Amino acid sequence: MSNTSEIRRVTTRRIIEMKKAKEKVAALTAYDFLIARLCDRAGIDLVLVGDSVGNVFQGHETTLPVTLDDMIYHTKAVQCGVKRAMIVVDMPFMSYQTNPDEAFRNAGRIMKETDAGAVKLEGGEIIAETVAKLTANGIPVLAHIGLTPQSIHRFGGYQPRGRDKEEAAQLIKDAKILEEAGAFAIVIEKIPALLAKKITQSVNVPTIGIGAGKYVDGQILVVYDMLGLLEEFNPRFVRKYLNLSQTINDAFTKYVKDTKSGEFPNEKESY
Ligand code: KIV
Repeated sequence: MSNTSEIRRVTTRRIIEMKKAKEKVAALTAYDFLIARLCDRAGIDLVLVGDSVGNVFQGHETTLPVTLDDMIYHTKAVQCGVKRAMIVVDMPFMSYQTNPDEAFRNAGRIMKETDAGAVKLEGGEIIAETVAKLTANGIPVLAHIGLTPQSIHRFGGYQPRGRDKEEAAQLIKDAKILEEAGAFAIVIEKIPALLAKKITQSVNVPTIGIGAGKYVDGQILVVYDMLGLLEEFNPRFVRKYLNLSQTINDAFTKYVKDTKSGEFPNEKESY
């Protein structure tokens, strides 16, 4: 029996339909229950449990130390807060690069042990066989091209990608190959806006940009970046909707002062 008041989950089908309907996909990362619940209540379509957890939660320089167990742990927390959004989980470094069978086993663990609706993999043509293996076996894949942080040591830094003709052409080719392999959408990170436009026009699946300008089918940001929690991280593509580090600092400082002075707790805050 169907219940009409039930919240309908965002599915891969819905994400693909959004491109056809020219409705932009609004996506954010989340790593815990409370932020995930706030994302969901605000109407975020896709919550990514990103391996950026390595940077912004664990405090590492790169995403490379993140493990499959870390991703599953954070997804279990996120899923408790999400009723509507699609949950996508990043496959961490070395959980899918070795071969398609190992990738399938690891992606299978994510799908079995969490409520994820899909996994995300970084890379172009080189991961096409893996994308095909996962999708053929019922595991939806969100692809990720452009600046791919798991390859940071090969790139040698976080500069925008696709600025020369050859790399731009390869990125367009990658997007088409990934679509053909079965990816339901493609994240494109930190590339020129006009190249992102070309890629978006070259494929039927939605493109979700981060630092890729406005001519894409959706946007994603790292949630702590847009909340202004990292005062030292100010790339031009991050719009800070809050200055949360300042707000939290003010609250903590006041709490220390009130505790030390005996102003906290007062009568009303006591039993
Ligand atoms: O790990 C992550 O947060 C990501 C987004 C930046 C797309 O991959």
